[in-house]
Amino acid sequence: MIQRKLEVTYVPFDRTTRVPPGTTLFSAAHWIGLPIDSTCGGRGTCGKCKVRVIKGIADAETADHRQLRPQEIADGWRLSCQAHIHEDMTCEVPQLLRVPKAATMGLGRLVILDPNVRKVYFELKEPSLEDQRSDLARLKDALTEEGHDMVAGVSVLRTLPQVFREANFRVTAVLAGERLVAVEAGDTTEQCYGVAFDVGTTTLVGTLMNLRTGMAASVTSTLNGQAPFGADVISRISHGMNGPEAIHELQLAVISTMNSVLAELYRDAGISPMQTYEAVVVGNVTMLHLLLGVDPSPLSMMPFTPAFMDELTVDAGELGLHIHPHGYVQTLPALGAYVGADIVAGVLATGVLREDKLRVFVDVGTNGEIVLGSAERALATAAPAGPAFEGSQIKCGMRATVGAIEGVQLGDRVELQIIGGDVPAEGICGSGLVDAVAQLLLAGLMDHSGRLKLPGDVPDHPLADRLIDIDGMRAFLLADGVFLTQRDIRELQFAKGSIATGIKVLMDILRVTAGDLDEVLLGGSFGSYLNPESAKVIGLVPPVDVDRIIAVGNSAGEGAKIALLSYRERQVAFELPSRIEYVELSGRTDFNDSFISVLGFPQLETVS
Ligand code: FES
Repeated sequence: MIQRKLEVTYVPFDRTTRVPPGTTLFSAAHWIGLPIDSTCGGRGTCGKCKVRVIKGIADAETADHRQLRPQEIADGWRLSCQAHIHEDMTCEVPQLLRVPKAATMGLGRLVILDPNVRKVYFELKEPSLEDQRSDLARLKDALTEEGHDMVAGVSVLRTLPQVFREANFRVTAVLAGERLVAVEAGDTTEQCYGVAFDVGTTTLVGTLMNLRTGMAASVTSTLNGQAPFGADVISRISHGMNGPEAIHELQLAVISTMNSVLAELYRDAGISPMQTYEAVVVGNVTMLHLLLGVDPSPLSMMPFTPAFMDELTVDAGELGLHIHPHGYVQTLPALGAYVGADIVAGVLATGVLREDKLRVFVDVGTNGEIVLGSAERALATAAPAGPAFEGSQIKCGMRATVGAIEGVQLGDRVELQIIGGDVPAEGICGSGLVDAVAQLLLAGLMDHSGRLKLPGDVPDHPLADRLIDIDGMRAFLLADGVFLTQRDIRELQFAKGSIATGIKVLMDILRVTAGDLDEVLLGGSFGSYLNPESAKVIGLVPPVDVDRIIAVGNSAGEGAKIALLSYRERQVAFELPSRIEYVELSGRTDFNDSFISVLGFPQLETVS
């Protein structure tokens, strides 16, 4: 069921937005780029985010009574981070965050530095007979004075007596939210790190972030150690079906990959695991299940129900992840069984839901994950594309490694772009496949149904002799021993047809056409390498001007970094599942009907 959106207006800025019921005034303002003042990041402890409710009702919560004077409450002042929107509202904002420290992320996003992990240095008053407060109370009082709540676990408590006395009560408290992660001797505020992980089925990327400056300290990637159990999520799930030990085996494989990435990150940046307090992890739903050792098998059968889709916080020690032993792992939520936290991170990074622009974000892979919408309304779905884009089930297909053709240009001769530069072509990867098929169409060597021509059909074409026969099947010779067969083209047609249909179904639900789209964003490790023109020529994406088709790189990794650097942005990510409607394509008759109609390639005049 679609929730009715509520309208909120912020004065004196005269900015209005529409949000789902239950959103806080603080979050809604943030979504439209009004950073209401705060030092606690929306936890209700700093009192800086107060706004005056002019229209609508927000009940005063416990935190309001703690932070505001009774007269202020009577006058309509509320903590915006505690005030949930349940009707149309107008409020006055007295103070925006002044000169926020910010970091520029990939995709040009400016992110206000507001990490969940914060360090506060104290020169505490030493105990005396007149002041016999406990170590914990002494620290808690100092933190309260600075506007921080604090909860301490016994493992940190055990360290207090020694650290306090060795450091003459000059200590740094490390807080993750309200949780006391560590107390360190002296002023260690300069050394504060977190790590963002994008756990892909194939590749795992880790970025060590300096949480004080917002800069990346080091970045590295490696193959997911689960690869021996199968190349795709279905084979990993199948292996997991062998029982709890098999699931544990898959969990250990990914954690040991993450630990090897961490070791490299620490070495490159010259820092220690003890200075790294938090890991934000994104990945598809299967990857996150396996990371946490949860059985993903229900994902592979109807009705595709995962064990969890929510954001989870897990002790790093429990997982065996090599960051600070009292640090923790934070995952982002998923939108559906096949639209995971990696897509939520992508939406966060690209800001699809921040503006009025109508955009479609597509992550092209074995599944095409699609998010279509704007700040007004957004939909998401996953279209099963099969392995063609990954180079599988393509006669000369290969992964995007050295020797793979990644770009093709057909003119009087065949021009190839090969990964590794001046090396012989060994095969063709996904982006090369899309390019090759688009170029065959543009060169008139293939018709719009996807049928390769025979040399006799185009006798004067300079590339007619490249149209060959392989084992009785039509093919096009790209390089010595590397060719594209008629069957490969059919595989690509099914893959692109599925994604194009997914986009069309979402556009139909929103009642928009390609002409209404402001931008098409191509994400994911494959989408980023796609030639936008070719994606359009084959009809993978809607026919918009090519300069509106934008490759957005590793948007999942960017989103994980943003969530690491900004508690507010993290909250936005947590709220995305309630703001984006998930559309299941299986069993939809409009999907089946449209699929047939988009299998062919568009007429050239519609793509120019
Ligand atoms: S009390 Fe700090 S942001 Fe609301």
